[in-house]
Amino acid sequence: MVVMSHDEFSALADRLRSAAAAYYAGDGTQLMDDATYDAGISELRTMAAEHGWTDADDLLTQVAGGQGSVGRDGAGSDTDGVPHEVPMLSLDNAMDDDELQAFFDRVAHKTGVPTDDLAWVVEPKFDGMALSVRYHDGKIARIVTRGNGLVGETVGHVARHVSGIPAELPGEASVTVVGECVMTHEDFAEANRMRLEHGERPFANPRNAVAGSLRAKNRDYRVPMTFIAYGAHAPAPDPTAYTTDPMPERYSMTISRLHNLGFTTAADVVGNQPVARGSAGAMAQIARIEELRQTFSMDTDGAVIKADNPHIRDAMGEGSRSPRWAIARKFAPDTRETDLLDIEVAVGRTGNLSFTAKVAPVSVGGATISSVTVHNVSEIARKGLRLPGPDGTAQRVVVRRAGEVIPEIVGVADVSPGEDKTVPFVPPSLCPNGHALDTTGVIWSCVLGRDCTVSAGIRYAVSRDCLDIEGMGTQITDALVGSGIVNDVADLFGLRVTDLLTVPRLGESNATKIMSQIDKARTLPLARILTALGIKGTGRSMSRRIARHFGTMGAIRAATANQMAEVEGIGPIKAPSIVEEIAELAPVLDRLEEMGIGSARNMDAAPPSSVEGAVSESPVAGADTAPSALPLAGKSVCVTGAMSGALAGMSRNDVNELIESLGGRAASSVSAKTDLLLTDDPESGTGKAKKARELGVEIVSPDEFARRYMGGVS
Ligand code: IVH
Repeated sequence: MVVMSHDEFSALADRLRSAAAAYYAGDGTQLMDDATYDAGISELRTMAAEHGWTDADDLLTQVAGGQGSVGRDGAGSDTDGVPHEVPMLSLDNAMDDDELQAFFDRVAHKTGVPTDDLAWVVEPKFDGMALSVRYHDGKIARIVTRGNGLVGETVGHVARHVSGIPAELPGEASVTVVGECVMTHEDFAEANRMRLEHGERPFANPRNAVAGSLRAKNRDYRVPMTFIAYGAHAPAPDPTAYTTDPMPERYSMTISRLHNLGFTTAADVVGNQPVARGSAGAMAQIARIEELRQTFSMDTDGAVIKADNPHIRDAMGEGSRSPRWAIARKFAPDTRETDLLDIEVAVGRTGNLSFTAKVAPVSVGGATISSVTVHNVSEIARKGLRLPGPDGTAQRVVVRRAGEVIPEIVGVADVSPGEDKTVPFVPPSLCPNGHALDTTGVIWSCVLGRDCTVSAGIRYAVSRDCLDIEGMGTQITDALVGSGIVNDVADLFGLRVTDLLTVPRLGESNATKIMSQIDKARTLPLARILTALGIKGTGRSMSRRIARHFGTMGAIRAATANQMAEVEGIGPIKAPSIVEEIAELAPVLDRLEEMGIGSARNMDAAPPSSVEGAVSESPVAGADTAPSALPLAGKSVCVTGAMSGALAGMSRNDVNELIESLGGRAASSVSAKTDLLLTDDPESGTGKAKKARELGVEIVSPDEFARRYMGGVS
């Protein structure tokens, strides 16, 4: 149980009051998500009951049909209120199947009807705003929000245009129809588009949009909304008007009458469902609705289960807040609020730009979301997405995920005016690989199209940590890709001087130099070739581990996902995509194999080419030496600083490869498990050397290292 002081209690009450007020501040904005609000109210209730504190009673006192005037489940102020003829009740919630079963048992017990014989109508619980629409002599007389259940607010000026509310009823019927006003996802997108067009901030989610739009005064545009009828009663003063039958009718009958009168009903969303028999029948329909929920065109947050038989409803009666003959089975929320941390831009294989919003991880719809695709720059603008400000304040966004549906950012939770410390997202002026952009369409793309990723891949392949082809700069790789001469890594090894001479401003002597660099690369160890292929999730060190684990390209290609998962640091999650990408590379790998590149003889046991001479006498093994016989077998070695002496000129990557070729494991940091720290400044009192000294890890210089492990080279 949460324990709080009276001050904390009052502070929480204040926060909830402002959230409730903001919710109805006129345009449907929201400072707190529903789950947080509900949890807060429930904490207040517990503490108030325990200590007898009464100063949050305005929030906690339930009047019939809902929360008080600051409650969030209806219109806010009751000064301009219109009393309902019949209170608009709320529903009790069943949070799990046990609570639902308890409800079925209660009804069976009280009515004496066996549970299996009870008849239920099951409908989705639509997430919008309840309205009561009164018709008099077949014409709309007034439309009122639920408000606090007793008193609502007239919204007829807006609501009479809502789809699903017939303007007239045949036979001059007088009846009051109740239901939920919602926005479909399409309505919502359209509403936000209109708001942007009118210089207003977009709504955070459809429910806020409905609440804001119904209450809006003097708007010169009209947003689309839909009304779904879920009940009807005759106006209190005229009991004969709706039906001449004095007996109340079956719920399923009321709904089908409403449908025939032109109202939208649950059947338009879920399709016709038979009346459910017994708790098993009801449960099956709830499950069906939950399963179909993600295909509905509007948000739903549960299923509502109602007794079909009027005698059962009569026998159960109603409490001041909710009927005892119906219950809402809540679904896990499929939207949550979180911080928008960044918007990453990437270029796909076809050259199209993609935008991914990085959000603080939240669990929603049964999964943790940290990345959400935002399709294009206009979507970013339409949703009003902004990046964290200099002080780190992030924008609060509402993310949605239901079932297997791809997560999306529904909208932005509003901030109080003047408090926005976030900064606008500035669309890129170049593609992530530095090329010009084509921004004429909704989807932006790199002017190089498919060649963009190919040339970025080739640029990576020739870089120092991969094939290390000196002299082959970006202009040359872009030109070779642009002219179609190079499409993949294998093409690089097939280049001839004449190909290189097609590159503008590339002379013969430079072309010859590049050719000799390419020739040198032919004997590079397997790990380097693997790195050069740019397989996602396999950088330098991962490629080294894969090469060491499997030994030959043939074995790597033959590996199943399970076998790949055994490589240290890969695991079952990354393994399948690596295996898949290797399979996709088959044509390239076949050609590399034909050219003898990355072949078993020069696998990663061979040292990097830059120290080839220096280590020729070393005990470094060839492909057939057992790993345990290698001089650094089982040892974890960390490298820091630039190399000098025997290892002068070697990059960190070169040294790491060398360590692994000697049987050791290259570690990126010093810990108690590290065996050696290799540095050219062993006396250093700072950084890794300091840590190594504290932990008693041995520190060696490059010369000492070469002497001990590389056969006396110094
Ligand atoms: S029946 C007497 N059916 O849920 C009870 N309500 O928390 C009448 N709601 O205020 C409610 N979908 O606004 C019913 N299919 C549905 C509903 C539904 C949404 C809302 C309604 C009510 C709230 C209860």
